[in-house]
Amino acid sequence: MKVDIVLLAIGLLVAFVNVTTALTFDEERLSLKKFVTSAERIRSHGYPTETHTVETSDGYLLTLFRIPYSHKLKNQRSYRPAILLQHGLFSNSDCWLSSGPNDSLAYLLTDAGFDVWLGNARGNIYSRANSQITFSSPKFWKFSWHEIGTIDIAAMIDYIRDFTGQQAVHYAGHSQGTTVYLTLLSTRPEYNPKIKTAHLLAPCAYFAHGSHPIFQLGALVGTPGGLWNTILEDMELMPKNDIVNRIADTLCGVQPNLGKQCKDVVLWYAGDGYRNTNLTSLQVLIETHPGGSSSNQGIHYLQLSKSHKFRQFDYGTKKNRQIYNQDTPPDYDLSKITARTYSYSSANDALCGPQDVDTLVGNMLLVEDYRVPDPSWNHMDFIVANDMREVINDRIVKAVKSYERM
Ligand SMILES: *[C@@H]1O[C@H](CO)[C@@H](O)[C@H](O)[C@H]1NC(C)=O
Ligand SMILES: *[C@@H]1O[C@H](CO)[C@@H](O)[C@H](O)[C@H]1NC(C)=O
Repeated sequence: MKVDIVLLAIGLLVAFVNVTTALTFDEERLSLKKFVTSAERIRSHGYPTETHTVETSDGYLLTLFRIPYSHKLKNQRSYRPAILLQHGLFSNSDCWLSSGPNDSLAYLLTDAGFDVWLGNARGNIYSRANSQITFSSPKFWKFSWHEIGTIDIAAMIDYIRDFTGQQAVHYAGHSQGTTVYLTLLSTRPEYNPKIKTAHLLAPCAYFAHGSHPIFQLGALVGTPGGLWNTILEDMELMPKNDIVNRIADTLCGVQPNLGKQCKDVVLWYAGDGYRNTNLTSLQVLIETHPGGSSSNQGIHYLQLSKSHKFRQFDYGTKKNRQIYNQDTPPDYDLSKITARTYSYSSANDALCGPQDVDTLVGNMLLVEDYRVPDPSWNHMDFIVANDMREVINDRIVKAVKSYERM
């Protein structure tokens, strides 16, 4: 118990400690860097961009950034199949842009002739409003990735279908962006025909084998109704604080010897090493991360690491009976997923590793179960590795083009 509490404290304070340590070294350089949005980032590379707002059935206002066509191809009058890219936990749409036009998936797809849409889940820095609930209310944070999947992703897909007039879209997600896909299609199977192909990068559904130290918190927070659960539920996790973020970002940018601490904030979550990491890209990512999420998303994952099941949020027996009509939460039925789904995973992923991917593969139908051959590839490499174009992104582009006969 004592060890767990220490671990929890470390977990929650890691970003703060890094930032304050950095501060004592660098008090004189506090002119803060300007916040750059996904739209500005896209425009800075010469691409056209649009910003769309989607309102969900429960009032959340989600921002979708769009790269409608490629200025290089000048294909604005051609048929451009739509694809939705969805970020991971603590992240946002910037994760698809951080390595620039030659490497990041959003640009590669645009230059391959696609209409690219970048999703932002409720609660992240681009989706922090609700037409019915004020942002400061704890009610605002009363959601997990179950709601992101079954409500937000569904709303985004329908919006894109309406807007483009296309019957179905392609999809790619990283980490939690894969969990929400699995959640949506198993819970609302009527969405299967709305997906042409889906590409799951570092797919996360089962957590029986994760080696990351964060899973030790599962024993504590993964117990519904427990003290920590009650304290931590329904609040923002790793708050996105403008000042703290700008300071971290500014210092990470100007102080080379503080670079390691800055990287640790982001990569603490990846589990292991920077061997493949594009450090410039990581620097870009730090500018808008952590991107904002509800504590319930973390709690829900920790529950899975304790139960070894891929299932809905556990509210404790009493409330489970009211909500689910049974003592334990229902499993997501992955056999309901019929859309053409590709999995891309790696051996050195401390969060969603090979054995847990095996379980996923055993429970659903996949078009392809691709394992990155390089044994050092980790969870974050799918969005920041130097060679992610050759290793992953070119494969995705090839698959979607082949589906479209382009
Ligand atoms: C872009 O990527 C290609 C293929 O990986 C490489 O040959 C080329 O040198 C890169 N260009 C730039 C500007 O980095
Ligand atoms: C690393 O990322 C930067 C942008 O942040 C990009 O300009 C560069 O081409 C990337 N390098 C490699 C090798 O991927």
